[in-house]
Amino acid sequence: MSQLNKYKRYTVTSALPYANGPLHIGHLAGAYLPADIFVRHLRLKKKDVVYICGSDEHGAAITIKAKKEGTTPQAIIDKYHAQIKQSFEDFGIAFDIYHRTSSPIHHDLSQEFFLNLYEKDEFVEKLSEQYYDEDYQQFLADRYITGTCPNCHNENAYGDQCERCGTSLNPTDLINPISTLSGKTPVLKLTKHWYLPLDKYQPWLEQWIATKDGEWKTNVFGQCTSWLKSGLQPRSMTRDLDWGIDVPLEEAKGKKLYVWMDAPIGYISATKQWAIDNDKDWKLYWKKQADEQDDACLLHFIGKDNIVFHCIIFPSILHAHGEYILPQNVPANEFLNLEGDKLSTSRNHAVWLHEYLEELPGKQDELRYVLTSILPETSDSEFTWKDYQARVNNELVAIFGNFVNRVMTLMHKFYDGKIEAATEKIELHDEYLKTEIGVFYNEIEKNLEAYRYRQALQAVMSIARLGNVYLTEKEPWKTVKTDPEATKEALHNGLLIMGHLATVAQAFLPVTAKKILGMLNWPEETIAYDQEIHFNNGHQLNPASLLFEKIEDEVIEQQLQKLQAKKAAAAPAPTVTLQAAKENINYESFATMDIRTGTILAAEKVAKTKKLLKLTIDTGIDQRTVVSGIAEYYEPEAIIGQKVSILVNLEPREIKGILSQGMILMAENSEGKLSFVAPVEDFHNGSVIR
Ligand code: MF3
Ligand code: ZN
Repeated sequence: MSQLNKYKRYTVTSALPYANGPLHIGHLAGAYLPADIFVRHLRLKKKDVVYICGSDEHGAAITIKAKKEGTTPQAIIDKYHAQIKQSFEDFGIAFDIYHRTSSPIHHDLSQEFFLNLYEKDEFVEKLSEQYYDEDYQQFLADRYITGTCPNCHNENAYGDQCERCGTSLNPTDLINPISTLSGKTPVLKLTKHWYLPLDKYQPWLEQWIATKDGEWKTNVFGQCTSWLKSGLQPRSMTRDLDWGIDVPLEEAKGKKLYVWMDAPIGYISATKQWAIDNDKDWKLYWKKQADEQDDACLLHFIGKDNIVFHCIIFPSILHAHGEYILPQNVPANEFLNLEGDKLSTSRNHAVWLHEYLEELPGKQDELRYVLTSILPETSDSEFTWKDYQARVNNELVAIFGNFVNRVMTLMHKFYDGKIEAATEKIELHDEYLKTEIGVFYNEIEKNLEAYRYRQALQAVMSIARLGNVYLTEKEPWKTVKTDPEATKEALHNGLLIMGHLATVAQAFLPVTAKKILGMLNWPEETIAYDQEIHFNNGHQLNPASLLFEKIEDEVIEQQLQKLQAKKAAAAPAPTVTLQAAKENINYESFATMDIRTGTILAAEKVAKTKKLLKLTIDTGIDQRTVVSGIAEYYEPEAIIGQKVSILVNLEPREIKGILSQGMILMAENSEGKLSFVAPVEDFHNGSVIR
């Protein structure tokens, strides 16, 4: 914590989202809400901070989307950049600039970085064989190649990763590679690229990262050390693509910078643009200063899938350049799940931010509150609508809103909303309240600066709880008849607690904080932690308004139904993930297969395996045993009586000591989901399939 406080300036970044689709709650919970709370907190401490973000507009993420929507990459980035920017604004994510990597200032700076390293002879130039689509006359980005995963035999693995088993791959690792452009087998062709020698930087990286032990979150530090342990390989910073930033070398005509080289530089180019717009010096926020004491504190907020890029690759680039500061911390979050399932754009299993606000208008702080309560800080966490409802109703409405509402209504009821006292200045004198509130401020600070938002939010709620307990104890609605002075004091103290609540809520619930400040009739501009909370005698409050309303069951039901419906309607599978057709075969080859209809008579798990079921099948011809790799998808009891198709003349094989005679045919969709294949009519076992 003290580590963080020694800096004069802070440069805070949130991962640049790809401008290839709208934002959902997973984005917000991963890299934006935590950073926003953190930045607001720093601002409340009156720190000099710049908060940077923008759209990531290069890379295969964009071109694939354009291809899918039948339009140009430019049209895609324009559409989604605008939409994403709007969503961030709607949810109060307080960037100082939301920039874009398609801007000229960014292209220039990225090329400058490349040339800087090139001229220092940092890159290793290498010729290598890469897949090339002869029909389309172009080299294929990793994502444009699919094939069979050498690890799990998923036939729809991508050239960079198998999404089934999570293994990261090179395109040449794929068995049976296919170009998603032409659907044909690509050929290997020689091409030259410029590699960042991560192996050369490894000793330096090891030293640097070792200094972060105990300071970085364990999930982040752990990932880094495991990357280092497996040994870093040079990584190419250039690509054969037609969308991106030109490699600024004559001999590299037609080649582009690797998107993960240019995107993080986007943080810097965005800062440059912000400095131009606001008459600031961007170098103060990025470059090493003459005296190390004057260096800014650089913090990257990201999701866990971006750790290697922010902890290894980008720091290596900055280090190789030499003039730049390195991240002080990279507080990456884990993933947020939704209703028991991974968030998925392709399956449309998500709560989209723009849709949320259309259906629950004005409720951005409710979502901010719930997401902050469940942030995946140390492990994956889960959003459910029932939990959302419970937290809004039992916490925001019943505790936070209730406290503010009690104070405001009583002040208006008894005193027409006017503060009148014997003294000119009304401050908090109650020692107990003062001490307690002080403790909660410390808790907020301590936890936020250790990236523990959930706990920090609890401390905010503790102030509201304290207020409620205080009112209940003082019973100002009773003493008004017996001891009017006591009522006045209790309510004035209530207002002062409200002032503190509004102060700390600014980081977490900005809209709500503003509303409270409005009711208190305090100046609209942000108040800082060290601002004295007091009222002048005669101060007039504004009318009370409700902060939060109860979420009814119907609203939750509707959201749940919508999720179900969306999932069902989601496009079957984007064309790019479909496995391309195999090579032609002749009829004779096909006719050698004897496929019959059958019925599963019995099923049991094969001991000591996760995937295998031992099935007894009635094939019409006989009853036989088949070992099938479907145990992860089906419970044995659930499939007794299931009609199946079975290849009966497959050479028997021993699997885990069991003789398997034949193979059950299964359909597998692009998500890796399995389904039995059987005649649509009720046919007798042994019917021939041909
Ligand atoms: N666009 C990337 C993603 O969504 C994140 C880029 S972060 C940056 O995974 F550092 F490269 F900017
Ligand atoms: Zn795999």
